[in-house]
Amino acid sequence: MSALVPGDLNAVFASRNPNKTRELEELLPGWRVEPLTAGTFPPETGTSYYENALAKARFGRSIEKRPLWVLGEDSGIEVAALDWGPGIFSARFGGDDPVGRLLAALSGIEGEGRRARYICELVAVSAQGDGLCGTGTLYGRIGHEPRGSEGFGYDPIFIPEDEDGTVAELGHAWKRQNSHRARAARALLEAIEAR
Ligand code: IMP
Repeated sequence: MSALVPGDLNAVFASRNPNKTRELEELLPGWRVEPLTAGTFPPETGTSYYENALAKARFGRSIEKRPLWVLGEDSGIEVAALDWGPGIFSARFGGDDPVGRLLAALSGIEGEGRRARYICELVAVSAQGDGLCGTGTLYGRIGHEPRGSEGFGYDPIFIPEDEDGTVAELGHAWKRQNSHRARAARALLEAIEAR
């Protein structure tokens, strides 16, 4: 396959999370990313971010017949005091109130126990079925109360290493450069370019 150049970069993203779709399009310069149209997505049954991301991309590939990349993503938050969980179970752990639930789980815990990291695994499956992946991690700690209005999920209580503000305070522009998803997208682009 010839090297990809901007303009050829079109992808369908096998996700129902509009926040992730928006972030991903911003993170892949020159790409057009549209969400996969599918009624129901299969349940996440993998034992790792990679397995879940690959399963989503493969599911998308089975539906998407156009010669576009299909992207799958899985991400989560890991917290020291929760034995580095909830990890791949982050979406289920949080439910409707991810911030409240995590703050309650960390009530009375200070210092090392509040260390945390966001992980993102991004998989791209080509029209020929080849899979490429990129991983990204953002290290930080969990704050004591929600602050800021940008981002989504745990962003109002996640304070990245070397920063005073939460991801929700640091905002979209900061996230575009530094987030776990930004790092995973850069790694994926490198893998695509090195093919
Ligand atoms: P899933 O990848 O759809 O299974 O969901 C991962 C969960 O991790 C999300 O529902 C969020 O709760 C959390 N998460 C992943 N990435 C982020 C992020 O960038 N900001 C805040 N929360 C995130």
